[in-house]
Amino acid sequence: MKKFNRTLVTAALPYANGPKHIGHLAGAYLPADIYTRFLRNRGEEVLFVCGSDEHGTAIPIEAQKENTNPQAIIDRYHALLKSNFEKFGIAFDVYHRTSDKTHHETASEFFLKMHEKGLFTEDTTDQFFDEEKQTFLADRYIKGTCPNCSFPNAFGDQCEKCGKSLSPNELINPVSTLSDKPPVLKSTKHWYLPLQNYEPWLKQWLLEEHKGDWKTNVYGQSKSWIDGGLSPRAMTRDLEWGVKVPLENAEGKVLYVWFDAPIGYISATKKFFEELESQKFDFSYPENSVIKSGAADDWKKWWQDKSTRLLHFIGKDNIVFHCIIFPVMLHAEGEYIVPDNVPANEFLNLEGDKMSTSRKWSVEMVDYFESFPGKEDVLRYMLTSIAPETKDADFSWKDFQTRNNSELVAILGNFVNRVMVLSHKFYNGEVPENIKPNQKEKDLIAEIERCQIAIEANIRDFKFREALFELMNMARAGNKYLADNEPWKTVKTDADHTATIMFHAIQVCAHLSWWMNPFIPFSASKLCEILNFNKDNYTFGNFEQVPVKHQLGEAIHLFSNIEDDVIQVQLDKLMATKNAIASAETLNKSEKKDAEAAKASIQFDDFSKMDLRVGTILSAEKVKKADKLLMLQVDLGFETRTIVSGIALHFETEILIGKQVCVLANLEARTIKGIESKGMILMAEDADGKLHLMSPENLISAGSKIA
Ligand code: MF3
Ligand code: ZN
Repeated sequence: MKKFNRTLVTAALPYANGPKHIGHLAGAYLPADIYTRFLRNRGEEVLFVCGSDEHGTAIPIEAQKENTNPQAIIDRYHALLKSNFEKFGIAFDVYHRTSDKTHHETASEFFLKMHEKGLFTEDTTDQFFDEEKQTFLADRYIKGTCPNCSFPNAFGDQCEKCGKSLSPNELINPVSTLSDKPPVLKSTKHWYLPLQNYEPWLKQWLLEEHKGDWKTNVYGQSKSWIDGGLSPRAMTRDLEWGVKVPLENAEGKVLYVWFDAPIGYISATKKFFEELESQKFDFSYPENSVIKSGAADDWKKWWQDKSTRLLHFIGKDNIVFHCIIFPVMLHAEGEYIVPDNVPANEFLNLEGDKMSTSRKWSVEMVDYFESFPGKEDVLRYMLTSIAPETKDADFSWKDFQTRNNSELVAILGNFVNRVMVLSHKFYNGEVPENIKPNQKEKDLIAEIERCQIAIEANIRDFKFREALFELMNMARAGNKYLADNEPWKTVKTDADHTATIMFHAIQVCAHLSWWMNPFIPFSASKLCEILNFNKDNYTFGNFEQVPVKHQLGEAIHLFSNIEDDVIQVQLDKLMATKNAIASAETLNKSEKKDAEAAKASIQFDDFSKMDLRVGTILSAEKVKKADKLLMLQVDLGFETRTIVSGIALHFETEILIGKQVCVLANLEARTIKGIESKGMILMAEDADGKLHLMSPENLISAGSKIA
């Protein structure tokens, strides 16, 4: 094992093009956070960097869909992601963004240095181009018939039906998904990284040196890439949005998002030290960090000194970028260290199906906060208990409820509560003397020591679920110790032994509080308060005992039960999605359109009775106990209306705010779930049953008439 002096932890930069779900959390951010918190508690030098990935083709396309500009999209989602991570206690040292100037400079310099060293090859090839939209098309924006299975809607990079990887020129009858028109071929020049030149290095570094210490899923995927033969990969793209290629005659070209995004880890580190030096913190979290002082230049130590250990936490879809392409970039550039490990996770499914935000089969972080306020740790606990560390795992709401009620409440919370209640009852909350320890106490102490060693070893080995399981074993052992010794009985017969029992039970609580911090930090703090500890004085692995006569705090509950009806709401929501997917599939789409076209004709007078207006949505909130309904405040120019609308399953509340919509303003008022709703928002429903807002092309004044 190499000796390292510091650890740099990165978590995959999430795309700022939409909300992120709990699968993302379980895949990268939560394990990275557990690992970092653990090292911090151990007093090690560690830095945890991340940020929003704000480039790539998806962002301008999302902007176009929403009738806005890319900047508006990234601003919205950067803010959302940052705040979601904060709420879940993901304690970054810095959360940066790739649209920031520091990042653009860093990525350009990196590219230029490689260019100057002659590490790229240039090549002109024919690429698909959408003439209507005047843009080159990324592979997945081209659709056509699969040459392998004849599925008519295969993507240019893969057929979702038979799973074959494709390149767009293999598709039969390709069309652009942006305009539905056939694309044309147009020649264009790009800069390529000849990966094949690095094959000997990759074989030595990855396949030899990391044979034993990387997870088998990560090692296996990387090996099959290398064994399959490496070829040049374009590091630039034809796009307006991104880091401009810093060369002459490169108009309209940007760095490929997979070249620029991982460099985001470097620029985030730079940003952290810039801010530390100037003591002005926009992106950094000095309160989370163990690095309390430093100079702007210190980033180099973290990226260029061989005694730094670099770790990338990612989901399995990012393995080749972090195990092959980015390491080759770092190695080729010449001054950088390469990752020591890439503990990638597999995927988390939801109730047996692949999680997907676009298909609405997911639990978004934002939705979780709304449904389970104050229960961030329950999700952290659940996601760690079922973490997809070696294979795909499944999240089910029933399991979530059981783990909360039968583990957190019944084992951990219950143990702490019994100890606290008894200590207050017997000793007014003062830690009693350890008078007569016998074999049972020796065994208990041995179990504490064993657990501590096991937890540490498992965390260091990225086996977080095992580590958490050991923590719970200690709580189980604590409960058993109380049940075996029955201090509530011995208190009447043997005061000395009772004091000894309670002394030891309190020591178990103390160790639990230190061990809980990486996994369930909010509850760990709460337990510290219950024990009346100054958090800063206690760290993981500190075997010091809680001293006799220490005054304990108040006994409050750490966790509370989750009832069936709360779980049912979540299951109903998923059931509604399932029904929507199924009915969209079974209903013959043309039949549906015909049926809808078949309404009888009306007189102009009938039409003119309707008062149709443009409204601006000022606020949106979910209606309690009605998961399809949103209560909207809509500005109609002449007044603000409350309108209840059945669109909750189709839109995130945040996204609606500020949107302009078409409103039927003179619809008779109705009371829905006790709320008076005046008017109706008009929506378009597509063939898949998904709703779309009918928004004006440009912002116009609220209340404008529609006729
Ligand atoms: N934005 C990419 C994704 O979500 C991940 C980028 S990781 C990085 O898949 F290394 F490129 F930053
Ligand atoms: Zn196919």
